[in-house]
Amino acid sequence: MLYGYEDWPKLSLESFKLGKELNPRSLRVGSIRYDFEPTSVVITGMGGSGIVGDIVRDSLWSYNIIVHKDFNIPKWVDSRSLVIAVSYSGETLETICGALDALKRGIPVVGVTTGGRLASELEGRGAPVVKVPKAIAPRFGLPNLLYAVLGVLSHYLSIPEIDESIKIQEDALKSELPGRLASFIRGHVPMIFVPLGLQAVAYRFKNDLNENAKTPAVVAVVPEADHNDIVAVMLKHPVKYIIIRGRTDDVHDYLMRAVEEVVRSYSSDVEVIELKGSSRLSQEVYGSMLLGLVSIKLAELYGIDPVRTDPINTLKEKIKGISCPSN
Ligand code: PA5
Repeated sequence: MLYGYEDWPKLSLESFKLGKELNPRSLRVGSIRYDFEPTSVVITGMGGSGIVGDIVRDSLWSYNIIVHKDFNIPKWVDSRSLVIAVSYSGETLETICGALDALKRGIPVVGVTTGGRLASELEGRGAPVVKVPKAIAPRFGLPNLLYAVLGVLSHYLSIPEIDESIKIQEDALKSELPGRLASFIRGHVPMIFVPLGLQAVAYRFKNDLNENAKTPAVVAVVPEADHNDIVAVMLKHPVKYIIIRGRTDDVHDYLMRAVEEVVRSYSSDVEVIELKGSSRLSQEVYGSMLLGLVSIKLAELYGIDPVRTDPINTLKEKIKGISCPSN
C-alpha cells in the first residue's frame, strides 16, 4: 500500500491551483491589508504541517521566510509580515494560537487547512483560508498543504520550478531505493547527514521515520555537524549512516564529500542518497517522497501500522483545554 503517495502529482497540481485561486491581495480584514510586499513571511505549523515551512524556507532561500513551531508568533513580527498558518486538521492548538495572536496584532494571516477550528476561527474574523483535500493522515497530505502554500505565495514572491517539482515525483515513485534502504536501516537508528539549504528533506525523513516507522533518528546538518555530530563515528553504535547529497553550491558539495570520506573511514554502514531535480524545491519534494516511502517500507518490515500515532493523540488530548499564552 502506498498511502496516497501515488496521487501526489495530481494533488500537487490541484492544491497549487487552490492556493493561487485565493488571491489575498484583494482582501482587507478590518484595518488589516493584504495588498503589500511583505518584508518577511512567517509560516507557522507543527509536525506534518510544520515541515511545509521548512521546505518553503529552503526552496525560497533568497526571501526572508521564518519557520515558527510554537504558540504565539515572535514579538518582532508586525503588519509588514505575512503569516501563513498551516494545520492539516485545523485543530492544532499551537497553530490556532499563533494565527489568532497575529490577527489580534494587526498582522495579515492566511490559513491553509482541511477545515477544523483554524478554518472557523479565521473565517469568522473574515481572514482568508485555503481548504485543501484530505489525506490518510496529516503527513500524508504534504503535497496538498505545500503546494497550496506555494500557490498563495505566488501572489507575493517568485516561485521556481513548480512543474519540475511535480514531474520529478514520478521518478521517486518508480525508485527501488525504498525497499533497499528500509532493510539497511532495520534494527538501527539512522543518522542523517544533510547540507544546510536542503535540511528540510532530512527533517521530513526523521519525522516520517518517527511517525510511520516508530523509529528514532538523528539529523546532522553540515557544516555545523562537522563540529559535533561527526565525532560520534569514533565509537561503534547501533547506527546506520545516511548521507543526503544534493545541489546547493560548490562549497556545500565539497563539504558533503568530505563528510562521506570521514564517515566511511570509521564505518562501512553508509548509504548515499542523491537528490534529483535542478531547483531546491524539486530536490526537497523528490527527497521527501522517496524517503517517505522508505519509512513506509520500514513500517512494513516491523509489521506496524504507519498511520497510528497514539502518543501524539494522547498529548493533544492532554493540552486540549489549555488557553493560548496571554502575551
Ligand atoms: O503527521 C502527523 O500526524 C503530525 O505530525 C501532525 O501533522 C501534527 O500533530 C500537527 O497536526 P496538524 O497537521 O493537523 O496541524
